[in-house]
Amino acid sequence: PAARQPLPAHWRQPLGLALLLALAGPGETLQNVTAQLFGPEAYGTLAAFGDFNSDKQTDLFVLRGNELVIFLADQKEPYFKPRVKSLSVVITSVVPGDYDGDSQMDVLLTTQAQNHGRDELSVFIFWGHNQTLDLNHKTMLNKTFHDEPLVMDFNGDLIPDIFGVTSDSSKPQILIGGNLSWHAALETQSKMYIPHSHAFIDLNHDFTSALQFFFYLSEKIQKTPSGVKVVGQSVFADFDGDGQSEHLLPVCEDTTCQKSAIYLTKLGMDQWIPVLQDFRNKETLWGFVPYRSDKSSTETSFPITLHIGDYNMDGYPDALAILKNTSGSNQQAFLLENVPCNNISCKSVHRMFKVFWELSDLNQIKDAVVATFFDIYEDGILDIIVLSKGYSNRDFAIHTLKNNFEADAYFVKVIVLSGLCSNDCPRKITPFGVNQPGPYIMYTTVDANGYLKNGSAGQLSQSAHYALQLPYNVLGLGRSANFLDHLYVGIPRPLGEKSARKQEWTAIIPNSQLIVIPYPHNVPRSWSAKLYLTPSNIVLLTAIALIGVCVFILAIIGILHWQEKKADDREKRQEAHRFHFDAM
Ligand SMILES: *[C@@H]1O[C@H](CO)[C@@H](O)[C@H](O)[C@H]1NC(C)=O
Ligand SMILES: *[C@@H]1O[C@H](CO)[C@@H](O)[C@H](O)[C@H]1NC(C)=O
Ligand SMILES: *[C@@H]1O[C@H](CO)[C@@H](O)[C@H](O)[C@H]1NC(C)=O
Ligand SMILES: *[C@@H]1O[C@H](CO)[C@@H](O)[C@H](O)[C@H]1NC(C)=O
Ligand SMILES: *[C@@H]1O[C@H](CO)[C@@H](O)[C@H](O)[C@H]1NC(C)=O
Ligand SMILES: *[C@@H]1O[C@H](CO)[C@@H](O)[C@H](O)[C@H]1NC(C)=O
Ligand SMILES: *[C@@H]1O[C@H](CO)[C@@H](O)[C@H](O)[C@H]1NC(C)=O
Repeated sequence: PAARQPLPAHWRQPLGLALLLALAGPGETLQNVTAQLFGPEAYGTLAAFGDFNSDKQTDLFVLRGNELVIFLADQKEPYFKPRVKSLSVVITSVVPGDYDGDSQMDVLLTTQAQNHGRDELSVFIFWGHNQTLDLNHKTMLNKTFHDEPLVMDFNGDLIPDIFGVTSDSSKPQILIGGNLSWHAALETQSKMYIPHSHAFIDLNHDFTSALQFFFYLSEKIQKTPSGVKVVGQSVFADFDGDGQSEHLLPVCEDTTCQKSAIYLTKLGMDQWIPVLQDFRNKETLWGFVPYRSDKSSTETSFPITLHIGDYNMDGYPDALAILKNTSGSNQQAFLLENVPCNNISCKSVHRMFKVFWELSDLNQIKDAVVATFFDIYEDGILDIIVLSKGYSNRDFAIHTLKNNFEADAYFVKVIVLSGLCSNDCPRKITPFGVNQPGPYIMYTTVDANGYLKNGSAGQLSQSAHYALQLPYNVLGLGRSANFLDHLYVGIPRPLGEKSARKQEWTAIIPNSQLIVIPYPHNVPRSWSAKLYLTPSNIVLLTAIALIGVCVFILAIIGILHWQEKKADDREKRQEAHRFHFDAM
């Protein structure tokens, strides 16, 4: 059962801030908070999220040329303060994680290999120690990769492993985290698609993530939708709220992306269903921005990616995408809202995407290149970060937009830790944010209309090509303030183990943060969960009202008590008087 914990100090402040912001701008759903968050430091390429210094606040990993800048979350403005690590190589990606199992955040970097030409990637792991990163304490992997590797938990020991095709073998290899030994990962002759979008996620609902390989060039495993010329990155989300992950794929039906679409499929469904085809707004036709693979250009090109998050907490994941004006040159970030299907073509999945064309502040950012969700104030509401061109020749500008969505919607924020040192951590610091790939979370609840509602999400299912996934999941619950009836958490298990490693918690209070510590890994009964409550405005008002009523009742009781005591005293005095009288 979940033990209730006292509120961590850093949650009190954002509440005051949120109240203030809510008073300042009613009606505005998005608000530019870049200056408060970064001060003058709002530039670079956002590459990953993770709690680097175990203070329970998510930090940002940003690239600036040859520098890795870690923005540590802080209590005072600017809320993110940079710490610079300089390297002499061109960094192409960053994946934080605990690669040796000591519960300290390490950082994996891929860089352009210096003596292998531009197509090969070298991989470095910088070992975290005592909440810092020592640049001299690093390991360079002695194989290079054809494409960015996927970080996953191959052997179910909750230490992240590194998967990819290396230059010395045509078959995918896995580097086991911990002892750093290489193994062949799977038997296949097919070539991997570059840029790949492999994911490590539970698709068949057995609470064990299985690696999904999409887009082998041979179309044996999974065919792309017919007539598709440009394929974007696969992404996995519980699109229709049935408790299972669906596979979403953004595509273009011509090579220049004049005609874009998003398709969906799921396990047991053998065709692709379009969930968004209408990219026309008034006179302008929008489309995805195709990936330029030529590495000679100094500008970073991003694959076509949907970044998933439940913006309005209705229990159905929404998405952010970058679209360009097909007849002009402008490109912008757009919010794709998950709405009930109103078209014959998506009838079988009941849901579809609708583009929010006019979202002020989001459409004021010109030349956007990446847009993703992030819970800036750790209050359970997903805010938006956008990168755009134009800060300088080399660096992108970072914009942060706070989501002031006020619709009495509820959520639960879940983070599953590795549980590797729950009793015996160095310096007694509970490892909080060592990004853990692979856990799977599912819930069932009853919605406002009394129907059963499911939802699910995988934690850190993808890591390559700026997947920018958050180390936690925010599950929207809609407007029903009901308890979460059941919450299931599963973690990967070693090959050959029969029973699923999964545990169930019941009656979770909404608007709370649940931290699951799966220790020991193979005894789910003993796993623990800590519940932190986020005081939403309603909870606060209720508390104030309750305290008010209590004070009122206490006052009445006090007055009555006092009156009774007075009457008693009077009576006693009279009695004494009488007695006195009688005695005479
Ligand atoms: C947000 O604020 C920052 C700093 O004040 C400014 O540079 C940026 O242009 C603003 N962005 C938008 C979209 O207004
Ligand atoms: C770790 O850092 C703390 C303070 O930052 C310091 O007091 C301590 O000596 C360090 N320990 C080691 C082993 O470096
Ligand atoms: C790579 O490193 C491993 C262990 O660190 C070693 O066993 C192996 O021989 C090395 N491979 C090459 C090609 O150097
Ligand atoms: C490394 O660990 C894996 C899994 O725990 C094991 O299969 C492998 O034999 C180990 N390798 C070495 C060199 O110890
Ligand atoms: C939710 O999941 C339960 C059991 O896992 C299933 O019986 C039910 O049909 C699901 N509900 C929906 C709406 O998919
Ligand atoms: C709805 O259906 C029509 C006709 O099949 C199609 O042209 C249109 O693009 C569809 N819209 C969406 C959002 O799927
Ligand atoms: C798209 O580009 C065309 C041609 O440059 C322009 O006329 C139109 O206004 C642009 N649309 C938007 C929404 O910017």
